[in-house]
This record gives sequence, structure tokens and C-alpha cells, in this order.
Amino acid sequence: MFAEIIGWGKCAPPSVLSNDDLATFMDTSDEWIFSRTGIRQRHISHVGSSEMARVASERALACAGISAEEVDLVIFGSTSPDEVIPNSASIVVNRIGAKNATGFDMNSACTSFLYGLNVATDMIKAGSIKTAIVIGVEKASRFMDYGRRDSAVLFGDGGGAVVLRATEEALGLIDAKLNIVPDTREMIHMPGWGMDLSHQALKEFYYSMNFKGQDIFKSAVRGMNQACEAVLKRTNTDKESIDFFVPHQANLRIIQTLAHRMKFDMDNVMVCVDKYANTSAGTIPLALCDALEAGRIKPGMSILTAAFGAGLTCGAGLIKWGQRTTPKGISDAELPECKQTALELIQPAIEAAKTHYA
Ligand SMILES: CC(C)(COP(=O)(O)OP(=O)(O)OC[C@H]1O[C@@H](n2cnc3c(N)ncnc32)[C@H](O)[C@@H]1OP(=O)(O)O)[C@@H](O)C(=O)NCCC(=O)NCCS
Repeated sequence: MFAEIIGWGKCAPPSVLSNDDLATFMDTSDEWIFSRTGIRQRHISHVGSSEMARVASERALACAGISAEEVDLVIFGSTSPDEVIPNSASIVVNRIGAKNATGFDMNSACTSFLYGLNVATDMIKAGSIKTAIVIGVEKASRFMDYGRRDSAVLFGDGGGAVVLRATEEALGLIDAKLNIVPDTREMIHMPGWGMDLSHQALKEFYYSMNFKGQDIFKSAVRGMNQACEAVLKRTNTDKESIDFFVPHQANLRIIQTLAHRMKFDMDNVMVCVDKYANTSAGTIPLALCDALEAGRIKPGMSILTAAFGAGLTCGAGLIKWGQRTTPKGISDAELPECKQTALELIQPAIEAAKTHYA
């Protein structure tokens, strides 16, 4: 048994924050950000991650041409769930009307979508469920420290979802290799984002990520490279037979370095970090949706995907695409209207950072 990807949908909130917008209150520039990261802009959400997930899921269901009642499982991949008790998957299950589904949250930071895809695929392969929605979504603007130019310029909000369905054909995620790089927890660490009593001294609304950019860069390239090689070896796949590469969108230079190591031509590598920045768990489903919309994914393609995130969690997966690359239907799902600019939306967080650093 396999788990074909039969539907896909994305949600990029309407307000856009450009590099120039960031430079209005931070010592940075479009030139610095673009040349070091490939990022031009990021979307800032006026709603929580569950609402973005709801829209992406409804679009993915319409694309698959199935109803919400047919879904057995919803995996909500995110580091920024609206709520923890009860989980945020149950928000989506209720909002889309998936009355026969169960659901759980998956947090492995930026790799949460890939990890969720692996878990849902294995549950389908095992025969315990037939149909699943896997979501990767993030409201990263909620935990940005706008007093820190080294990290605040890198992230954005948004995400996507895919629908998986059981099939006898060898389609969908064929195999994946996931791991945690030992002793790298401190490279990306968010004090205060959890139940440890020592967090209670931290001020409300202000979060600041410990972030070691250059160490992350090296470990990410090495970790994804090893995971990619492991998946290719385990599936007996030559690099030459990979048609398309969809890497985590954190930094164009990381993508280029990894592609170079894998000997992939950049023409066959998906890049959308310029439009969305790093949406953490959202990057791979957003990239898949954009690649499909642009006609870059063709029937029967072998697609390699790779991701890394806080932990450092790493992973890679080999996806075999089916025959359909266009949606069966188009959903009318939309986010509620947003009347604020991106700069207005992040203003409370900018003020919180100013107070912190004063
Ligand atoms: C963060 C990152 C872009 C920094 O690029 P870099 O080339 O390593 O830059 P450095 O950290 O060496 O900083 C170089 C200089 O730019 C400055 N700088 C950092 N951020 C800046 C910004 N947004 N604007 C302007 N200058 C900036 C630094 O202060 C430093 O100045 P100094 O030399 O006077 O001290 C890069 O390391 C990176 O992308 N790492 C991976 C991080 C990542 O993707 N994390 C996601 C986890 S899922």
C-alpha cells in the first residue's frame, strides 16, 4: 500500500512586509537581506495558524475532489499552534467539518510538514487509515524578536496542506530519512515557549530566539545532504533520476550549497524563499503548490525533498508524483479580510522589542 498526494492547497496571508519595510525600523537593507538570503519579502498574518491551515485544507480538499467527511486523519504540523490544549488539529477538524477524522499536532519545527507526511504515509501504508490531510503552517511573526536583525529578517507566515489517499500504485512518499543532529539544540532555541517554570519570569508578548546563523547554515547543509544521500541509497535511486528538488526554503545560499553538493542543476530546484521567506513548517507545502501552479511538476516525476529546523531536526524524502498535476476543483475558501498593513500587524512586537532593549 502507498499514499498518493491527490490534493494540495496553500495559504499566504494578504499583508506583505518587504525588506524596505523592515529597514524603516531596523538597521538593515534590502541589499543586505537579499544578497545574504535571497529573501525579498514575507507575508504577515492577521489570523492564527489554525485559520491559515483551515483555508489551505479546504483548498487541498477541493483540489483532490473529495469531501471533508472522507478524511480519517489531520496532522497539524507547526511550531506556532494557536492552542495546545486541546490541540490545534482539532480546530481544523471542526472548522472544515471532518467529522470522521482524528487529528494531532506535530512539532519538529521547520521539518514538521515532512515529519507529518512521513507519519501519515506510514499509517496509510499500515492500513490503519485511508485518507489524511497533512498541514505545514506557521505564524512565525508571533515569535520574532524585531530587535534582532540577524533572525527577524528571515521568517514569514503562511503554509499549505496536502491530501493523501491509499493506493496500490507506488506513488506518494516512497521513503524518508529523519533524524536529530546530536548536540545542536542551542543553535535555534526559543526560551519561554513551553511549560518550564523558569519561563515564568519572561514578559508577555516578547520572545527572542537564540540563533547561531553560521552554525545552523553548516549543520543544515550537512544534515540535509546526509539525509538525501540516505534516502537515495535506501530506495536504490540514482541522483540522475531525480527530476525535481523541493528543499526547505530558509536561505537561497543554503539551497544553492546543497544543490551543488547533490550535483542538482538549479533549473530543477524549487526556489520561492524570495516571496515568502522562511515560513518554517509551511515552506515545503507552499513550494509544492507554487511548483504545481507554475507547471514545474509533471506527471510521474521523481521529486526529492529535504528540510531542517530547530533541534536540529533534519530529513529528506523521495516522492513519486502521480498523473494529475492540476486541481479537480477550486475552493472558494478565503481568510477573513485584513485591514492592516504588515507593518501595523507587527507593531506590538516591535514595541515589545523596543521596551526590552531600552
Ligand atoms: C543568518 C545569516 C543570513 C547570516 O549571514 P552571514 O553571512 O553568516 O552573516 P554574519 O552572521 O556573518 O553577519 C555579518 C554581518 O552582518 C550583520 N548583519 C546580520 N544581520 C543583518 C541584517 N539583517 N542586516 C544588516 N546586517 C546584518 C552582522 O551584524 C555582521 O556584522 P559585523 O560583521 O559588523 O559583526 C546566515 O548565517 C544564515 O542564513 N544562516 C542560516 C539561518 C537559517 O536559515 N535558519 C533557519 C532555521 S530553520
